[in-house]
Order: sequence, then C-alpha cells, then structure tokens
Amino acid sequence: MTGETQVWKIEWDDGMSVGIPEIDEDHKHFIRLVNQLNQAVADRMSVTEIKNRLQLILDDAERHFRHEERLFAEWHYPDTDEHASRHNRLIEALYDISARSVPHDFAAEWIDVGLRIKEALIGHILQEDMKYAAFYRSRQAAAQA
Ligand SMILES: [Fe+2]
Ligand SMILES: [Fe+2]
Repeated sequence: MTGETQVWKIEWDDGMSVGIPEIDEDHKHFIRLVNQLNQAVADRMSVTEIKNRLQLILDDAERHFRHEERLFAEWHYPDTDEHASRHNRLIEALYDISARSVPHDFAAEWIDVGLRIKEALIGHILQEDMKYAAFYRSRQAAAQA
C-alpha cells in the first residue's frame, strides 16, 4: 500500500467511545467498512467493487442512524429532532459525495471520496454523538442515585 492511501485510514480509539457498547460496535463497523473502501482504492480494484463498498457504507449509515433514533425514543432524549435532522443531512451529504465521484485521476479522486466520507462520519461521532453520550451518562447516574 502506498503512503497516499494511508491518509484516510481510520483506527478506532477510546476517544471515539460513546460509552454505549451496542453503539460503539456500530461505529467500529463503520470504520471497518471505510477501511475496506480504502483497501479497494489502494489495490486498484474495479470501479464496480469500489461502488459496491461505497454503497455498503451508505446503507450501513442509514441503518445505524435509525438505530440511534430508536434509542433516543427509549431515553426520551430531548434533542432527538435536532440530531435526527443532522442524520438526514449527513445521508444527503454522503449521497452527494458518492454521486459526484466520476474519477478522472482514478486513485486521487477516490481517495478524496473516502476522505470526505471519513471526515463526515467521524466528525458526526465526535461532535454530535458525544452530546447524547453525555446525556446518557447523566441519565445512568440519576438512575443509580
Ligand atoms: Fe453514530
Ligand atoms: Fe448520530
């Protein structure tokens, strides 16, 4: 693998944990799928294979967002609507990124697609999902008091 394709390879770290095992598992799965896309680009697999892997990420993102929204309903999370609308905008952004990708300079453009997808997903985990993580912790603490 060349250095340039390592640019957007993601490693899970504990700083990404929301403290809810079933959600952390979903997020780790995302990371595996993004790294599999990375691998397909690095290995110069066919565009069909790359697009298949991209589609897996899009499908998984939608499934995961609905999973979070089901938990929000269970918790009576007050910022559910705000978070759900961010999910919807993120799905649109992901489809937009993947639709615009008609590669000329094959590797460089696919690396850019992977980088944007990684930034969008990881940015959402670190900025938005961490908000419900804090809410979940205080809710757990209150239940144990
Ligand atoms: Fe998430
Ligand atoms: Fe989320």
